[in-house]
Amino acid sequence: MKLKSVEFAGAIGRPGQDPPGTLPQVAFAGRSNVGKSSLINRLLERHRKQIARVSASPGKTQEINFYQIRAELDGRDDDFFLVDLPGYGYARAPQAVRDSWRPLIEGYLRRSDELLGVVQLIDARHDPTPDDLKMIEFLGTIEMPALIVLTKMDKLRTAEREKRVQAATEQLGIEPEQVVGFSAVTGEGREALMQSIEHLLTGD
Ligand code: GTP
Ligand code: MG
Repeated sequence: MKLKSVEFAGAIGRPGQDPPGTLPQVAFAGRSNVGKSSLINRLLERHRKQIARVSASPGKTQEINFYQIRAELDGRDDDFFLVDLPGYGYARAPQAVRDSWRPLIEGYLRRSDELLGVVQLIDARHDPTPDDLKMIEFLGTIEMPALIVLTKMDKLRTAEREKRVQAATEQLGIEPEQVVGFSAVTGEGREALMQSIEHLLTGD
């Protein structure tokens, strides 16, 4: 896929609000601080002028942000949204913020007919959290195609890399082919993930 343009299209902050358009969508989910916004920036090659906001203090992305992408897919230009979901499981967020997460995100995931798949991010250094497992189970119950990305691979020593990928596949009951190791720092995994997203968008 060849990127043509990228722009911020809008955000939704309340359950039931409509997305800023009816384009095909791929969303990024994961706990707070796992690296969703950094991954989107890296995918869009915006590591100089960042489009998705990355904050030093976790739990800051509290809205669902839509980035409108124009890219050449199958030889013609197509528009779609990449969707940055707020992170869950940030223990120090105020209770009201934590309580608002579920209706906002689950509402969006359930109601969006144009949503073609979810990229679920898990920190490569840690086992999936109970919230991660709940999220993956939820995606299963609504029959949403899911890709698993292990983030921050650059923080692992070479000897640990394979072990962590294997642990994740076992804990999640998935095949190694369903897992992409990614680093927003080195760009590792970018090509593989772009290809998987392209498959979701083109239905191949
Ligand atoms: P919320 O918006 O709070 O849900 O967080 P997020 O999932 O969007 O995480 P974000 O991209 O803001 O990254 C959180 C922190 O992890 C930042 O300090 C990033 O610089 C760092 N980070 C993200 N990805 C990577 C990575 O691949 N490698 C390393 N070393 N650090 C990363
Ligand atoms: Mg974020």
